[in-house]
Amino acid sequence: MQVGIVGAGAMGSGIGRVAAAAGHAVLLHDVRPGAAQEAIGRIGASIERQVAKGGTTTEDARAILERLTVAGSVEDLSGCDLVVEAVVEDLAVKQALFAELESVVGPDCILATNTSSLSVGAVFRNASRPGRTVGMHFFNPAHVMKLVEVIPGPRTDQRTLATAVTFAEGVGKTPILARDTPGFIVNLAGRAYTTEALAVVNEGVASPAQVDRVMKEGFGFPLGPFALMDLTGIDVNYPVTENIFEHNFADPKLRSTWEHRYLFEAGLLGQKTGQGFYSYPGDTPPARTSGAPADAATVVLTTGADRSLLEFCARAGLTVVDDDGTSPVLLAPLGEDCTSAACRAGVDPRRAVAVDLAFGVRDVVTLMVPPGADPAVVSTLRGQIESASSVEVINDSPGFIAQRILAAVVNLGSEMAQRGVAAPADIDTAVRLGLRYPAGPLALADEHGPRVFTEILDGIHRTTQDARYRASHWLRRRAAADLPIHHPDVVAARTSLAAVTD
Ligand SMILES: NC(=O)c1ccc[n+]([C@@H]2O[C@H](COP(=O)([O-])OP(=O)(O)OC[C@H]3O[C@@H](n4cnc5c(N)ncnc54)[C@H](O)[C@@H]3O)[C@@H](O)[C@H]2O)c1
Repeated sequence: MQVGIVGAGAMGSGIGRVAAAAGHAVLLHDVRPGAAQEAIGRIGASIERQVAKGGTTTEDARAILERLTVAGSVEDLSGCDLVVEAVVEDLAVKQALFAELESVVGPDCILATNTSSLSVGAVFRNASRPGRTVGMHFFNPAHVMKLVEVIPGPRTDQRTLATAVTFAEGVGKTPILARDTPGFIVNLAGRAYTTEALAVVNEGVASPAQVDRVMKEGFGFPLGPFALMDLTGIDVNYPVTENIFEHNFADPKLRSTWEHRYLFEAGLLGQKTGQGFYSYPGDTPPARTSGAPADAATVVLTTGADRSLLEFCARAGLTVVDDDGTSPVLLAPLGEDCTSAACRAGVDPRRAVAVDLAFGVRDVVTLMVPPGADPAVVSTLRGQIESASSVEVINDSPGFIAQRILAAVVNLGSEMAQRGVAAPADIDTAVRLGLRYPAGPLALADEHGPRVFTEILDGIHRTTQDARYRASHWLRRRAAADLPIHHPDVVAARTSLAAVTD
């Protein structure tokens, strides 16, 4: 295939590289003179490093580079079978480019946009042959990331869609079909993890370092949400968050916080500027504080306490005693703060301490304490638990840290399934490949049972009255009917392809 790439920046050069590596002849064009040649130089240097590490042979490297050619003008792309656009994220610039491309390429040439935040339908609004247009959203770095979201616009035809899918597979990627909706799959699904973490910190429940430790060390996410935002750059994730929030007409599930915005406005963009949620270099997140050296800590359990609490006490070496009037009362609420759970159980909240056991005992144990708790008692308890696990002590909040963040991830994934953003299993695959979560949002629901998540969300919603925590119908119905979360609706979700296939 003759493939044209327009825009030889980070994405265009990556896409050009994978296309050439898969055997396609690639023409690279950029409006800035010299940019396409520089991109080929960068690709060459990177491939050379690969050769040095034994990742490829000198012959293959040479063959890839021979397939990459600079196109001095848009007219030079006239013979292409496919042109992928990766220019600046500006609707007018993209529309003007495609108008120019349509005037030079043949009638069968497929035109693809790599936009990450614009509507594919809008990019191709003025296309004279809209059937041959499509979104192909590669991820950065394109030669490494396996995922490509393939997004049919409202007028994309089946041939174009099939070609885009085949092309993506041919260059070694996993194409996933996404509906033309704000943020497609990955950029939308990713909002839950970070914005709920921001909400936890905004409410003074825990510090960014605590949230990061719980999610990374306790739940296996590759990075905590704050370290992740600092790494991708707040100049990238803040505008994306704001854009997706606006394009979803202020859906409260997608709401960020003032701190996110102020870091962006102050130019404190994370690792690249030396300061974001953390300072760099060398600012390792503040170390945990520790509890008092273990004294044999005693705890009281309420009547009817869950078996998981007894197991936890045994594992942590806590001695369960009859109510002695002084030992802390240990609770394990779901979606409820410690104060409310204690009051409901008829316990003085100043004696209550909550432990998050919603997802079993993790490597990091989260203890949640109400205002008025005796710091010495909490410290002794912590000291004892620390002999077996790491501990984070946080302020009172319905849903601790992990319940809130995981429920937000599951709820948004469920809502995406409900809206037909993609097929349920595809939402999971895209999130695993694009965000490297240990499991996709829907698989996560099945792992712990959809009902746990509706209970958490209902509890938080009851306390906060915030529509952000309203459980998705998709999740609630499957939890109520005891169905797996991937179970499809009887009438298939409407997709952008409806016009083509109906
Ligand atoms: N960077 C990412 O992580 C990422 C990931 C997925 C998708 N995207 C999308 O890919 C596109 C490109 O992003 P990028 O990060 O590679 O940007 P970039 O700034 O690295 O590169 C853009 C290139 O396009 C060129 N350009 C601008 N206007 C042009 C025109 N009219 N004709 C030809 N060339 C033109 C610029 O000179 C520049 O070299 C954007 O739509 C972006 O949203 C980016």
